[in-house]
Amino acid sequence: SARVVVLISGTGSNMAALLEAARDPAYGVRVAAVGADRRGTRGIELAEAAGVPTFVVPFRDYTDRSTWNADLAERISEYAPDLVVSAGFMRILGPEVVGKYPAVNIHPALLPSFPGAHAVRDALAHGVRITGTTIHFLDEGVDSGPVIAQTAVPVEDDDDESSLHERIKAVERQMLVDNVGRLCREGWTIDGRHVRFGRTARSVADAT
Ligand code: GAR
Repeated sequence: SARVVVLISGTGSNMAALLEAARDPAYGVRVAAVGADRRGTRGIELAEAAGVPTFVVPFRDYTDRSTWNADLAERISEYAPDLVVSAGFMRILGPEVVGKYPAVNIHPALLPSFPGAHAVRDALAHGVRITGTTIHFLDEGVDSGPVIAQTAVPVEDDDDESSLHERIKAVERQMLVDNVGRLCREGWTIDGRHVRFGRTARSVADAT
C-alpha cells in the first residue's frame, strides 16, 4: 500500500473517511500518520482512537513561518509518505513541505472560484447558485495547483454557511476517498495544468 500522511486542523471528518476506507487492504492506502497545526483537535483524538500515529506542530508556537514549515516537514519525513493529503488543514504549506512530497488538498469550492479560508461564506455572499468541492495538487500558491477532480453542489435558497458546508462535506468525503485511492493505486501524470491517472500520459495516438 502507498503511505499517506494526512494533515488536519479541526474535526477531521475527511481524514476519518480515509481511515475507514483504508481498513480494506484492496483500497491500497495506508494512513501512516495524521498531523495537525494546533493542539486539541477532534481529528487528532479520532486518529489516536484508531491507533494511528499522530503529531502536532503548533503554528502558534512559531514566530517564523519557514521554521514552522521546516519542523512540519521534519515530522512528516519520519513517516516517509508517498503522498501528503491536506484535508481541512487551514495553513498554507510552504516549499519546505510542498517541494519535498507530492501533496493534495481539498477545498470547499469550485476552484479557481473562492480560494482562501472562507470559501463557503464567500460563495454564499457572491450569490452563486452552484458551488462544490475541488481536490487539487498543491503548488506554492494558495489553492492554485492542478485540479484532480471537482464535484458540484447546488446552493439552496435557505442555505446558510453551515448547511451549505455540511452538504459540501458529504460529497467531499466521497470525492477524497475515490481520488486518493486512485492516485495511490494507479499513480498520476501532471501535464501542465492537467492531471491524469496512470504513470504515463495518454498520448493522442491512444485515443484514436
Ligand atoms: C472541509 O470542507 C475542507 O474542504 C475545508 O475544511 C473542511 C474540513 O472538514 N478546507 C478548507 O477550507 C481549506 N481551505 P473536516 O475537518 O471535517 O475534514
